[in-house]
Amino acid sequence: MAREREELDIGVIHGPNLNLLGRREPEIYGRMTLDAVDTQLEALADDLGVSVRTFQSNSEGALIDQIHSWSGEVSGLLINAGAYSHTSIALHDALLGVELPYVEVHLSNIYAREEFRHHSHLAGGAVGVIVGFGVESYLLGLRALCRWLQGRDSGLED
Ligand code: DQA
Repeated sequence: MAREREELDIGVIHGPNLNLLGRREPEIYGRMTLDAVDTQLEALADDLGVSVRTFQSNSEGALIDQIHSWSGEVSGLLINAGAYSHTSIALHDALLGVELPYVEVHLSNIYAREEFRHHSHLAGGAVGVIVGFGVESYLLGLRALCRWLQGRDSGLED
């Protein structure tokens, strides 16, 4: 008999300076505000039959606290840690510590930019990484994470 599938709940983490989206270096990040990104994520979540909750902070500690507090509550995380991706071993440790599967996303193609952006401390522990598609990076990331979680929960993954 088919088991009823529990609804996925995805936590979305936006790191430092992403609150400035829309007016921050628009030639790189576009003109869409963070609220508009969240609205698009919520609309996609509705289509996919999942729920999302979002959080933004400019503070590394607050991001870590949020990841800890979502542990056991969400099924997975979608994270754009902004510049902390390139610097924060503490965020890397927090993500691995809570054992939540996560997808890392970036609006810009970090590999086509300054060399200091080419390395992410988070990428190695991620289910996958999506960069360079603007808001679409988040949407692709949400789709991919949900597909991955559904595959895992139905025992179809490798
Ligand atoms: C970013 C890329 C980072 O290098 C940068 O520090 C950001 C935004 C992106 O989404 O493209 O803040 O994460």
